[in-house]
Amino acid sequence: MIIAIDGPAASGKGTLARRLAAHYGLPHLDTGLLYRGTAAAVLASGGRLEDEAAAARAASGLDPARLGEDESLRGRPMGEAASVVAAHPAVRAALLDLQRAFAAQPGGAVLDGRDIGTVICPDAQVKLFVTASPEERARRRTRELDGRGEPADPAAILEDIRRRDERDSARSAAPLLKADDALMLDTTTLGVEQSFLAALALVEAKLRGRA
Ligand code: CDP
Repeated sequence: MIIAIDGPAASGKGTLARRLAAHYGLPHLDTGLLYRGTAAAVLASGGRLEDEAAAARAASGLDPARLGEDESLRGRPMGEAASVVAAHPAVRAALLDLQRAFAAQPGGAVLDGRDIGTVICPDAQVKLFVTASPEERARRRTRELDGRGEPADPAAILEDIRRRDERDSARSAAPLLKADDALMLDTTTLGVEQSFLAALALVEAKLRGRA
C-alpha cells in the first residue's frame, strides 16, 4: 500500500506520515529533506540557489541515506532555500526516480511532500491532503524551532509560511495542489494524537471503499 501525504509547510504532514508508517509497518520518505539537502549542497559548493543546472547537479549527487542525520537541514533557513531549488524543473526531474523507487518497494511506503499524490505516486491507494490555518502552522513551527534551540519571532515565521505557500503554489513545476482523489484533513483544531486518529480513520475508510 502506498500512502501519499501532501500539504503546505508545518501542516503536520511529516508527523502524520511517521505515525502512519509506524502503524502500518511501512518505510517512510520525507521528500522535503531531498529538496533541503539539494539546497544545502548548492550552498556548500558556493553555488547560487537560482542556478538551475547547479541545483540539478546537486540533486543528482545526493546521498538520501545520509540526509536524515543532518539536523541543520531541518532549520528555518534551509526550508526557505529548499523552496527556491524545488521550483526548478530539472531538480524535480533529478529527484523523480529515487522517489518512485522508494514508493515501489514491496509492501509499499508512506511518502510526504507537495506533489506525491499528483506527480510522484498518482496511483497511490490512499492520498491525504493535510492543511491547517497559516496562523496555527506558524504557532507549530515556532514551537518546533524553540524546541530545537532556534528561537524565532512568531510574526516572522508567519511571514515565512505565507511566502513559502505562495512560492510552492504559484510555481509551474509540480505546484502544491490537492489531487482530485485526495482526502482532505484540516488539523487546525486538532492536536497530534487527534490528527493521527483522524488520518487513520480516513485511511481505513479509503481501504474499505468507504471514502
Ligand atoms: O516541513 P516543511 O513543510 O516546512 O518543509 P518540507 O516539507 O521539508 O519542504 C521544504 C520545501 O521543499 C517546500 O517548501 C517545497 O518548496 C519543497 N518541496 C517540494 O517542492 N516538493 C516536495 N515533495 C517536498 C518539498
